[in-house]
Amino acid sequence: MRGLVAGNWKMNGDTAGALQMAVAVREAAPALACDLLICPPATLLHTLANALVGTTVAVGGQDCHANAKGAHTGDISAAMLHDAGAGWVILGHSERRADHGETDALVRAKTVTATSAGLSAIVCVGETESQRVAGEQIAVVGAQLAGSLQDGFEGVIAYEPVWAIGTGRTPTEADVAAMHAFIRGQLTQRFGAAGSAMRILYGGSVKPSNAAALLNLPEVGGALVGGASLQAADFLAIASAVRG
Ligand code: PGA
Repeated sequence: MRGLVAGNWKMNGDTAGALQMAVAVREAAPALACDLLICPPATLLHTLANALVGTTVAVGGQDCHANAKGAHTGDISAAMLHDAGAGWVILGHSERRADHGETDALVRAKTVTATSAGLSAIVCVGETESQRVAGEQIAVVGAQLAGSLQDGFEGVIAYEPVWAIGTGRTPTEADVAAMHAFIRGQLTQRFGAAGSAMRILYGGSVKPSNAAALLNLPEVGGALVGGASLQAADFLAIASAVRG
């Protein structure tokens, strides 16, 4: 399967920047060996999706509500993301889990709603630094996978060690490979052939200088990129590091 490099802009970006990014990725995408996805803030989804019409570059949301609609002031439904032009949504990012108390059960409910609305989900898992120090990373990620994915899940997993997000620190290549092998085993055990074909992204301080080493490891199917996805040059340098 082709790799996927997804940019998570988090709470950054404006209209002018989104349009500039659209021009850059539109030109570069055809020559890349991976698929591109940009997840801007919800306010920019429609603008970015419109600017990318006719390209292979997809856009996605960074979260959605677990309910299909209703009285949830300030929240955004999966159907609304889809209506704005999104094909994807990131769910269970560690910043959502930490800032908004999102549990595995809530993330699972969101994956169900997102799938019904026609969105592909990227479900994030990953251990904290204290969990890694305690040697609990496999147990933590195993529990997150078991709890966050609904039966019949068909999306993408992003392994993002919390301590590597936005810190400039990354696990060793051996640690990334070991965790991705573990995740692959869990997915195959639970979902059979679909699980062996699912993309597993690595996320956490991916940048142009480490992309080639991290993204071509066995079972690494691409990257979820935060900070380095805000500048087109860095984002595209990371995408260029993915071999076919
Ligand atoms: P980072 O963020 O690339 O800035 O570390 C990754 C993420 O949170 O998805």
